[in-house]
Amino acid sequence: MKLLRQLGATAIAASLCVQQCAAQMAEAPYTDAKTGIKFNTWSTTNGSDPEAASVAPFTFGLSLPGDALTKDATEYIGILRCQIADSATPGWCGLSHGQSGQMTQALLLMAWQHSGKIYTSFRFTSGYSIPGVYSGNATLTQISSTITPNEFELIYRCQGCFSWQQGSTKGGVSTTDGNLILGRAAAKSGLHNPTCPDKAFFGFHNNGYGQWGASLENTTNAAYSTWAALATATPTTDCTTLEPPPPAQTTQPEAPTCVAAPAKTYDYIVVGGGAGGIPLADKLSQAGKTVLLIEKGPPSSGRWNGTMKPGWLTGTNLTRFDVPGLCNEIWVDSAGIACTDTDQMAGCVLGGGTAVNAGLWWKPNPRDWDYNFPAGWKSSDLAGATKRVFDRIPGTWHPSQDGKLYRQEGFNTLVSGLNKTGWTEVIPNDSPNLKNHTYGHTTFMFSNGERGGPLATYLVSAYARENFNLWTGSAVRRAVRTGSRVTGVELECLSDGGYSGIVNVSANGGVIFSAGTFGSAKLLLRSGIGPADQLEVVAGSADAETFIAKDQWIDLPVGYNLIDHLDTDLIITHPDVVFYDFYEAWNTPIETDKVDYLSNRTGILTQSAPNIGPMIWDEIKGSDGIVRQLQWTARVEGNDQITTSKNAMTLSQYLGVGVVSRGRMSITADLDTNVLLHPYLHDAFDKEAVIIGIKNLMAGLSIIPNLTWVLPPANTTVEAWVDSLIVSPSSRRSNHWMGTAKLGYDDGRTGGSAVVDVNTKVYGTDNLFVVDASIFPGISTGNPSAMIVIAAEQASQRILALSSPKA
Ligand SMILES: Cc1cc2nc3c(=O)[nH]c(=O)nc-3n(C[C@H](O)[C@H](O)[C@H](O)COP(=O)(O)OP(=O)(O)OC[C@H]3O[C@@H](n4cnc5c(N)ncnc54)[C@H](O)[C@@H]3O)c2cc1C
Ligand SMILES: *[C@@H]1O[C@H](CO)[C@@H](O)[C@H](O)[C@H]1NC(C)=O
Ligand SMILES: *[C@@H]1O[C@H](CO)[C@@H](O)[C@H](O)[C@H]1NC(C)=O
Ligand SMILES: *[C@@H]1O[C@H](CO)[C@@H](O)[C@H](O)[C@H]1NC(C)=O
Ligand SMILES: *[C@@H]1O[C@H](CO)[C@@H](O)[C@H](O)[C@H]1NC(C)=O
Ligand SMILES: *[C@@H]1O[C@H](CO)[C@@H](O)[C@H](O)[C@H]1NC(C)=O
Ligand SMILES: *[C@@H]1O[C@H](CO)[C@@H](O)[C@H](O)[C@H]1NC(C)=O
Ligand SMILES: *[C@@H]1O[C@H](CO)[C@@H](O)[C@H](O)[C@H]1NC(C)=O
Ligand SMILES: *[C@@H]1O[C@H](CO)[C@@H](O)[C@H](O)[C@H]1NC(C)=O
Ligand SMILES: *[C@@H]1O[C@H](CO)[C@@H](O)[C@H](O)[C@H]1NC(C)=O
Ligand SMILES: *[C@@H]1O[C@H](CO)[C@@H](O)[C@H](O)[C@H]1NC(C)=O
Ligand SMILES: *[C@@H]1O[C@H](CO)[C@@H](O)[C@H](O)[C@H]1NC(C)=O
Repeated sequence: MKLLRQLGATAIAASLCVQQCAAQMAEAPYTDAKTGIKFNTWSTTNGSDPEAASVAPFTFGLSLPGDALTKDATEYIGILRCQIADSATPGWCGLSHGQSGQMTQALLLMAWQHSGKIYTSFRFTSGYSIPGVYSGNATLTQISSTITPNEFELIYRCQGCFSWQQGSTKGGVSTTDGNLILGRAAAKSGLHNPTCPDKAFFGFHNNGYGQWGASLENTTNAAYSTWAALATATPTTDCTTLEPPPPAQTTQPEAPTCVAAPAKTYDYIVVGGGAGGIPLADKLSQAGKTVLLIEKGPPSSGRWNGTMKPGWLTGTNLTRFDVPGLCNEIWVDSAGIACTDTDQMAGCVLGGGTAVNAGLWWKPNPRDWDYNFPAGWKSSDLAGATKRVFDRIPGTWHPSQDGKLYRQEGFNTLVSGLNKTGWTEVIPNDSPNLKNHTYGHTTFMFSNGERGGPLATYLVSAYARENFNLWTGSAVRRAVRTGSRVTGVELECLSDGGYSGIVNVSANGGVIFSAGTFGSAKLLLRSGIGPADQLEVVAGSADAETFIAKDQWIDLPVGYNLIDHLDTDLIITHPDVVFYDFYEAWNTPIETDKVDYLSNRTGILTQSAPNIGPMIWDEIKGSDGIVRQLQWTARVEGNDQITTSKNAMTLSQYLGVGVVSRGRMSITADLDTNVLLHPYLHDAFDKEAVIIGIKNLMAGLSIIPNLTWVLPPANTTVEAWVDSLIVSPSSRRSNHWMGTAKLGYDDGRTGGSAVVDVNTKVYGTDNLFVVDASIFPGISTGNPSAMIVIAAEQASQRILALSSPKA
């Protein structure tokens, strides 16, 4: 049984690792006998990689200046001890200094031994490719190096290693946070040109990798500067005879071949077929407009000729995306599905997030509109749009076609406590406003035992119209713009068979970006719309030569106001709770469950993995007077790295509407997007709500006989435990990113915070719109997809109203 495969297949997903990972690295003080330098060290144990039976030995230790906890250090002394797996050929090991120990957008250090010397090289990469040489000014000087037959040890001083810059990409970590999340990786062999570090090339890390949280508590020492002065050595390098890099590194991968776009003009071009784009394209085409929907990913659902599926679905009209019980596969294998141009998880297939998500489907809490949105977008204004959406996609809390709920032990266990401690059961979408001390069954957008949602409703009606056109596998590069007027879109050839060229819109038509929170923000930036620092990055990228002239730039706060639900995970165990292995259902589903699903769309595979429920809501009035919303999502799944119990449940707390903290996204010179500043816990009262919410839920559940708390641990206070948790996207995100092109009256060109007006039109343009998660000024109570569809319904009316001739 494999509970936490998230650390497996994709590097993007390799990161649900909080202090869980710390638990798996053995922490110990260490004093180097030769120099007297004191370190705190972290070593792998057999157990550091949940998937691996045997883990290679790896140790990293840190020594910091005495004041590093009160003043951010710019350097450290490190000790790196790595396995020599094959004495005949050098392998390598390395460290990521990144905010979450990640491989991309972080200063990487690689080290290897050769002929009695240890060599190092700083590297950097913005994508999941072999890292190139770092061009910033980090400096490594050796203090000692030791090589034995089985391992090599380097003690070194690393200056300029806690902040980095590559091109226009900047990043860094703060020692005053009190902890770092570090990453490790190692390869058994395959390093070439060992004596010439800048020209060394190497392969995949096939000797283990992972991330861990390192508390800096015992790493500082007043003797630091004395020790740092011992760093005097740098190995002599020899670049006289070099092996040429392998062909794969000298020649570009073969460029895809695209087809010239048909010379046709449309009233509206909608870019991105996700939660926002599909409903919008349907509504615009329903009004008789000619509409082109351009999606960069491949088809997903079988309904649209998608093909990705496990063997047991062969011969059916279903793909992996259609079967609710397979939704977790996105965390196991997301190749060809997840977007590769961002450091966060997003679906780049037809349907976007609505093809890959868990299908949770909430009629919005009225306060989500009333608190976050401006006049014209209040819950009363959205009543019609909400009704239209829920008429088409009503959702269900009993998705099996026999009306039964399966494997409810987890639900029943938690509810047996809640219903005695003042919490009230609700049918969530019948009473969307009852969000304080309530709980209920999970509601899904599923229909007929399949995923359903926009792909099975809005896209079906759109596709039936002659004035609607759908292109998949075709990506948009930018809007073609002259001043305030957009005349069409320019395509970018990213996959074989996609369209290339320019597509025009008609004189009173428009372009709508619905490419998601990171995708639409990126399109705006590449269209010359955004903050100057970001547009300068685009101007220095591969877009440089064709980028719109600087005097045409529109200065708007694109990328600011980034939001996501902050996730805080509790874990309980209870003997009545029964785990169902949805992961195994990919290859070897339980036969009766498979037959029930395929013949009648009944049984547990009609429910989302990993057995989600109950849902619990709470409202906390903070000391600052703001009421903050919490949603708890319970699921029958523990975490291998924390408990071996087969009876575990995880309770994920989302901090929702009312949250004050905001972050910022940014673009890199390689035109990838990333989270520059995370949106979590920058506000003391946000943290207060998290803590009070945990206490409230613990009070509700602790009366349940035989229930054991794994997290928070019994020997700590909630406050101390919350303080100990790492705050970073990789450890706390919920994949509900929103807000990078905020909707509002306060025009961002003149100091306001809004990127689009209340008609979803980008300020400073005549006919460019954004309709997706980007425009949300604040975050929702629950999972956001239904709200995004409602916003698209509403936006379609406003966009159409702008185009109708004025009387
Ligand atoms: C793993 C996961 C689980 C989730 N679970 C839930 C859940 O259970 N319930 C819920 O309500 N929400 C859930 N969410 C969130 C929800 O799915 C998203 O908030 C929602 O889909 C966002 O809608 P969107 O229209 O903004 O963007 P998306 O749905 O992401 O759609 C954007 C589309 O634009 C396309 N695109 C991007 N760039 C370009 C380009 N340049 N040219 C052409 N096309 C482009 C993308 O391929 C994509 O199809 C989940 C998200 C993830 C990632
Ligand atoms: C794990 O166990 C294997 C042998 O079973 C051993 O070779 C290896 O060194 C161990 N790894 C660690 C990190 O202790
Ligand atoms: C370069 O490194 C030095 C030494 O650590 C550091 O003080 C300085 O800030 C760095 N400069 C840049 C631009 O990174
Ligand atoms: C720091 O050292 C103290 C005393 O040895 C120990 O109790 C504590 O657990 C250490 N903390 C960490 C994070 O290693
Ligand atoms: C698009 O419009 C431009 C002028 O704005 C024109 O030169 C071009 O031919 C048009 N392309 C198509 C395919 O209609
Ligand atoms: C598959 O076929 C069934 C039966 O015709 C139909 O009800 C269902 O909607 C189809 N599903 C998809 C994803 O095409
Ligand atoms: C799916 O494939 C069928 C058969 O090849 C084709 O007729 C249909 O147009 C395709 N549908 C889409 C959405 O491409
Ligand atoms: C509370 O929940 C338990 C378990 O689901 C159920 O047996 C019981 O009837 C519920 N009690 C109330 C008052 O709802
Ligand atoms: C499917 O439903 C039919 C009709 O209710 C029933 O006869 C049949 O046994 C069911 N099949 C399975 C596998 O449950
Ligand atoms: C939520 O309900 C609890 C319990 O009934 C109550 O104490 C609290 O004041 C309520 N919160 C708000 C914001 O109304
Ligand atoms: C709690 O566990 C004990 C021992 O496993 C068992 O005898 C008892 O029935 C359980 N109590 C409840 C209320 O489940
Ligand atoms: C709590 O107990 C765990 C082991 O059960 C231990 O690792 C941890 O250090 C303890 N924490 C405190 C604050 O005592």
